[in-house]
Amino acid sequence: MIIKPSMRSNFFTNAHPLGSEQFVLEQIKEAKASPPFKGPKNVLIIGGSSGYGLASRIALAFGANANTINVSYESGPKGKRTGSAGYWNNLYFQKHANETNTTHIDFLGDAFGKETKAIITKTIKETFGHVDLVIYSLAAGGRRNEETGDIVQSHIKTMGEPIHGKTIDIKSEKLIDITIDNATDQEIKDTVFVMGGSDWQDWINYLDKAEVLSEQAKTIAYTYIGGPTTQSVYRHGTLGQAKTDLEQKAKTLNTLLAKTYKGEALISSSKAVVSKASIFIPQMPIYVSCLYDVMLKADKHESILAHKYRLFKDMVYGENRLTDKENRIRVDHIEMEPSIQKATNNLMHSLDDNTLFDLKGTKHFLQQFYKISGFGYSNIDYEKDIDLDTLNTSLRDNAQIIE
Ligand code: NAI
Repeated sequence: MIIKPSMRSNFFTNAHPLGSEQFVLEQIKEAKASPPFKGPKNVLIIGGSSGYGLASRIALAFGANANTINVSYESGPKGKRTGSAGYWNNLYFQKHANETNTTHIDFLGDAFGKETKAIITKTIKETFGHVDLVIYSLAAGGRRNEETGDIVQSHIKTMGEPIHGKTIDIKSEKLIDITIDNATDQEIKDTVFVMGGSDWQDWINYLDKAEVLSEQAKTIAYTYIGGPTTQSVYRHGTLGQAKTDLEQKAKTLNTLLAKTYKGEALISSSKAVVSKASIFIPQMPIYVSCLYDVMLKADKHESILAHKYRLFKDMVYGENRLTDKENRIRVDHIEMEPSIQKATNNLMHSLDDNTLFDLKGTKHFLQQFYKISGFGYSNIDYEKDIDLDTLNTSLRDNAQIIE
């Protein structure tokens, strides 16, 4: 199959496996060039096939020599479908992690389900005995309500007046008008159900009851706070409500882990980056492009890997933890510097439809977005025919995948 980028509504409907290998390798290269650190031994990552979960997995496997189990919702190649980028990321992570002499297992399935929790717990017992870190990095558009069988959808809406703004249409590289509607109470509730902290809590309770958490076990989930520019669309919107719930659940989980294991439950506020999930937040592509531009110019830009590496090395396991009054780890402090926020906001308001696309930050944003699905690598021949079945079989023969 010859694989060319295919996009619908800012979503790649395909992925290029050889580009996904480059995507994983770029992060591995960065991790290997960073100073090693003492971290966890056995890590469970929920949502580790892309974005922040994958960067966390690579940072810990290559920086701290950790074993990992990853749960993600990804699909392999079938017929005319190339398989998702996250699917190939998992396989290539396993291929290249072989050199670390650590153990890595991938489970492909629905992390929200009880069955998944049972299989993973059994796998932990049989392979590692215990885990000492659980990372919750899910970004999902929907969640099955196990009591009713219904699929509950999350919504990206505001909670004040509707917002009229713009976002980037990536395929045409044009700015398009968007309106972000006001959420109903039900939509807020549903978003909290999908993206809030209840499933994280279910996971930790499940692992606790099954006695697979080790002494001093930690768990961490990722929130976003953002500044005044993103306030109305994010923190004062449905996603912000879900994150408030996640942060509340951290307090309950912290009490449990501290009491039973002398451990802790943490929230890290991470910086805005390009990911499969963040692209769906209206206005965010413009904000992130301008933020990248400002941070690149100020020589303060951090890659997704570098961001997570610093989180674990300095703040989760190191001595340089920065927290706010809510006890959230503020690894996003560079994005939040008043001068960075002010310059980003000014830049956003000084641009027109054309000048935005001339920015170095926007070019970087678009390049990263293509790379997430394995496109845009100069060392890949995108005209070359790839036998996906043969590639898939050979990678899977050397990987531990449970479906
Ligand atoms: P992403 O879309 O790159 O990754 C999401 C992960 O969740 C993937 O591994 C996917 O397979 C998995 N997933 C989704 N539904 C699943 C299901 N039902 N069962 C199993 N796995 C499932 O997302 P990203 O951006 O890395 O987000 C991760 C977390 O980080 C989210 O909580 C997000 O709010 C948070 N965050 C993201 C920021 C950003 O700018 N991207 C900024 C700050 C926080």
